[in-house]
Amino acid sequence: MDDNNKISKDIRALLKERDAVLLAHNYQRGEIQDIADFAGDSLGLSIVASKTEAKTIVFCGVHFMAESAAILSPEKTVILPRIDAGCPMADMITADDLIKVKAEHPGVPIVTYVNSSAAVKAESDICCTSANAVKVTKSVGAPKVYLAPDRNLAHWVARNTDQEILYWDGYCPTHERLTVEDVLAAKAANPGAPFIAHPECRPAVLDLAEEVRSTSGMIAYCKESSEKTIIVGTETGMYHQLRKDSPDKVFVAPSNRLVCPNMKLTSLEDVLEALERMDNVVTVEEDIRVRAASALEKMMAAGRD
Ligand code: 13P
Ligand code: SF4
Repeated sequence: MDDNNKISKDIRALLKERDAVLLAHNYQRGEIQDIADFAGDSLGLSIVASKTEAKTIVFCGVHFMAESAAILSPEKTVILPRIDAGCPMADMITADDLIKVKAEHPGVPIVTYVNSSAAVKAESDICCTSANAVKVTKSVGAPKVYLAPDRNLAHWVARNTDQEILYWDGYCPTHERLTVEDVLAAKAANPGAPFIAHPECRPAVLDLAEEVRSTSGMIAYCKESSEKTIIVGTETGMYHQLRKDSPDKVFVAPSNRLVCPNMKLTSLEDVLEALERMDNVVTVEEDIRVRAASALEKMMAAGRD
């Protein structure tokens, strides 16, 4: 048995012993996705975290994801195996920043991307993910809406609604690295291949996309597509599931710089150690949790775009 197989077996045994479920985001390392009970996008993971009957949730992703699980399932122990796995976009706005925004735009509903802290969610009217940003924004029913913290997601929503969209100037450093030149070069090298992109990409990059979807939306698109070659504009962790689902298709990375270092931190050893020690527990102060839960629950009720 090789080392990874042995560790995976030990993790599965310990998960059972601890009555724990292992959740992994689609950007996690392949070996982590392979041992997960559920791998998916932010929306899918939030829904599973809110419904699981297990006592413990081991969240392989970044901090805001584990925090959302702790908000939605306060009676459970939520473990983030690498407590240092953060999201630079989530760190681009604070609760105080959002309080100032609200004072500057009284009465304008705040739609906050889940890539944000619990304290920021607590100041928001409703949350969204990349899978339902348009639907959630339309659902608030106001002529003017403020989106935080992703400016690229805000531009994407603005293109798909008649509402006026104001936004915070944050961005994902990983998706921001994908350029128009990268995509044009990939298209030239793969004539006729569709280009699919995540809405965290720049607007000029999204202009070139045949489809714009969340990570799980991209997985579904690639599974259903009859195309043999598809250019995929998002973090590289995605190729693992795409190639597993469709070994006969070719998935082209338009750039080799689309790696989120935070999403790549968690190793099998980290998961095993966290489960052995039951440490790296993520908690949220109750006053903040209750307000953040309201924004997250409204988002989940909206479903997918
Ligand atoms: P989704 O899986 O919700 O599309 O999220 C992308 C992302 O950047 C998570 O950090
Ligand atoms: Fe944050 Fe971007 Fe990494 Fe997602 S891919 S966790 S948005 S830095």
